[in-house]
Amino acid sequence: MFLEKEEEKILDGEYGEVMEKCMKILVKLGDIYGADKLIDIKSVHSPGASYRVSGDAGLNFVEEVSKKAEFKCFTTLNTGGMDLENWKEHNIPEYFAEKQLRLTRAYEKMGAISCHTCTPYFIGNLPLENEDIAWGESSAICFANSVLKARTNREGGPSALAAGVIGKVPNYGYHRDENRKGDFLFKINTEVKTVREFGALGYYVGKIVGRKVPVFEKLRNTNLDNLKALSAALASSGAVSLFLMKKEESLERIEVDKKDLKEVYEKFGDKGKPDIICIGCPHSSILEIKEIASILKGKKLDAECYILTSKPIKSLSDRMKYTEIIEKAGGKIVCDTCPILTAKESMNYDLLYTNSAKLAHYAPGVCDIDVSLLELKDCLVVK
Ligand code: F3S
Repeated sequence: MFLEKEEEKILDGEYGEVMEKCMKILVKLGDIYGADKLIDIKSVHSPGASYRVSGDAGLNFVEEVSKKAEFKCFTTLNTGGMDLENWKEHNIPEYFAEKQLRLTRAYEKMGAISCHTCTPYFIGNLPLENEDIAWGESSAICFANSVLKARTNREGGPSALAAGVIGKVPNYGYHRDENRKGDFLFKINTEVKTVREFGALGYYVGKIVGRKVPVFEKLRNTNLDNLKALSAALASSGAVSLFLMKKEESLERIEVDKKDLKEVYEKFGDKGKPDIICIGCPHSSILEIKEIASILKGKKLDAECYILTSKPIKSLSDRMKYTEIIEKAGGKIVCDTCPILTAKESMNYDLLYTNSAKLAHYAPGVCDIDVSLLELKDCLVVK
């Protein structure tokens, strides 16, 4: 991979050991994937932000880097291991909280915005079309590439950190035009209009295409919430990082019928009374919280209920009194975290209701819990 003089100097250690280490990560990736050069990036969304995932090795690495370096571009933090303010309410062990706070503080020291959300595009990390970025978190990557039309590969914790510190990424994969083309054309023959339905569609298509690029012909009822559900599910059952929405006659055509989505609903069917309800995977928008509040107004929930979102969206929800309605019904709005990334000890339940295909896919393995994938109003069981 070609390096400019300044980049060579960093690699040779002239700007210190930490910069050298970060540059080595980028050069190694560039060499593996056949990049021709490094390119500037506009933003980073860092996935290594939960202590559950980083462990002590990740925490030590971030702390070490934070003593000597800062992020060169706008950097936001993905979902963390606990609600930073209210963690004591959620059975988070003290040791975990202490390490999560250390991890968050180290990132802040480098200039990252500690928003701890998987929907950074709702709160200001909103790249423009064709901008090169270095994002982690599979649902956000797929959304950024496909809906925002920005350009990112699937960055992991160390590579996103290195990209932020150097301000560049190796030019390969989805940064290049030739890799942003469709592989299969999907024709949808059944109506898809809710978050659960878009999630089921993504789950079904992701299994078929794996890491390839699906193209959707005539995808109707698209809005931000439905497209975030589609992005998250495509990236869960498969490893999709980009989908396209257009007509491409030259591709192999695959029809999706009602019975195909029914298979997904049957896999995660209604299994009885839940002891926990989780909405907001990926993290809820203010419109989703508004809808939840309108369903719950004047009612009492029949199970523990957590609405997951970011702190700024919760502030809006507080102002709009949606939080008050949800809390009166017995629900809680939880910020900064989710069942998959929180401390294991805090997820001690048997059956979870959700409208998220992504959460339905991961929760059984990660949290050892049964899941039913239902429409939002059916998830919110009331007395
Ligand atoms: Fe976000 Fe956690 Fe789901 S990071 S996409 S809420 S698994």
